[in-house]
Amino acid sequence: MEVPGELVGALRRARSVCVLTGAGVSAESGVPTFRDARTGLWERYDPLELATPEAFEQNPRLVWDWYAWRRELVREAEPNPAHHALAELEELVPEFVLVTQNVDGLHRRAGSRQVVELHGNLGYVICASERTPVSPDEFVPAGEDRPPLCPRCGSYLRPDVVWFGETLSMGRISEAQAAAAGCDVFLSVGTSSVVYPAAGLASEAARSGALVVEVNPQQTPLSGASDHVLRAPAGTALPALVDALKD
Ligand code: APR
Repeated sequence: MEVPGELVGALRRARSVCVLTGAGVSAESGVPTFRDARTGLWERYDPLELATPEAFEQNPRLVWDWYAWRRELVREAEPNPAHHALAELEELVPEFVLVTQNVDGLHRRAGSRQVVELHGNLGYVICASERTPVSPDEFVPAGEDRPPLCPRCGSYLRPDVVWFGETLSMGRISEAQAAAAGCDVFLSVGTSSVVYPAAGLASEAARSGALVVEVNPQQTPLSGASDHVLRAPAGTALPALVDALKD
């Protein structure tokens, strides 16, 4: 795949690179995205049924089981060439921060180190009241119509992910915003750019003079505002970008 020379030059000169990823970067690992018409996860499930505090209140066992199903799905998935290319890019630039909306943990499994998991991580379970981590060997086992319980306070356990209507951790948001505001090149990869605050990071980067690049086979609200659009799957575009940088 052809990568614009101006983009390769900007990456070569860049002191700092910030990357934002969404579900599309894991699509080639077989992890369904949320809004893609074909296989979008939400097409089969109503987000308001499953990924909100109210849903958990009304039907904790259903919400727990849905996330357990997604955890299994992700456990069977492997990082794809897009994840590996981003782990390699991190070694090729002086400063690098990867902000992800994904909760599948595949970036860390591919070797990325500076990762900000804006929406949390499916692999972790917390007490719904204390919000403290609980490891599987501590679970009070699930009942017929309830999730496992916290061994300390007896409250329901829940996945350590941010649900619709919940606030993101201020620490993670400011880390992501600082990375976007301080970078020379901003890559937005595999996201529909419709969920904030993540979708606002690209304009934060542009305001600070960064070159903004979108990697997505489809058009998004960010496409028109990007300096470059690599209209291709991340598993093709990102390895091509890294190869061009190493040439
Ligand atoms: N490579 C790159 N992009 C891809 C690929 C691919 N192989 N396949 C699909 N895409 C793109 C789609 O075109 C789409 O723009 O990935 C994007 C996926 O968009 P969404 O499904 O909306 O996922 P995302 O942007 O991560 O959603 C943001 O919304 O539901 C909440 O919390 C959830 O983190 C999620 C947030």
